[in-house]
Amino acid sequence: MHIKSAEFVTSAVKPAQYPAPDHPEIAFAGRSNVGKSSLINTLVNRRRLVKTSSTPGRTQLINFFLINGNLMMVDLPGYGYAKVPAAVKKQWGPMVEAYVSLRATLKGVVVLLDLRRMPGVEEFHLIDWLRHYRVAVIPVLTKADKLSKTDRIKQRRAAAQALSMTDDALILFSAKTSLGKEALWQRLEAVLNETHAA
Ligand code: GTP
Ligand code: MG
Repeated sequence: MHIKSAEFVTSAVKPAQYPAPDHPEIAFAGRSNVGKSSLINTLVNRRRLVKTSSTPGRTQLINFFLINGNLMMVDLPGYGYAKVPAAVKKQWGPMVEAYVSLRATLKGVVVLLDLRRMPGVEEFHLIDWLRHYRVAVIPVLTKADKLSKTDRIKQRRAAAQALSMTDDALILFSAKTSLGKEALWQRLEAVLNETHAA
């Protein structure tokens, strides 16, 4: 994908604040600190479009970015970080569920998992939830640069078994080396095209 432009549009906590649903949309979800914001920056070849942080729980709003004037990318707040204030934690479920259930232009959600840990109950819930709302799930295993090639394949097999998916359904990704960037773009394009046809 050739990236001509990538711009921040707005932040939202509730549907009234979402931008007009004028473009197909792909959202990015996963545990705090898993690398959602970094992955978006890598995909669109921008170092600092989306703020990243070594402090988990930094992104607490739904952030919308417009790519090439015709594709919206949405950075969802991360879940599962113990130190996030209780009030913010309570808000996460309803905020994300409202978004997923109401956003008619949402075509797919990239679900990020840290390659080094097994999917947990939050990931199973998130994936079930997305399937319930008939949103395509695009699973990605991040921080692949932290493991050797052999361990990557082993970990991917274990994660695939836990999720009842095939190994090659899980994209190995690294924001550090850009591993998996082309594979992920291909998957995103397939999801965007499928929904055009339907
Ligand atoms: P929240 O917004 O807090 O939910 O986090 P996030 O999922 O957006 O994570 P973010 O992209 O801010 O990255 C968190 C930390 O992980 C940062 O220190 C990143 O530099 C690091 N990181 C992200 N992706 C990778 C990767 O592929 N490889 C390595 N080695 N580090 C990564
Ligand atoms: Mg973030």
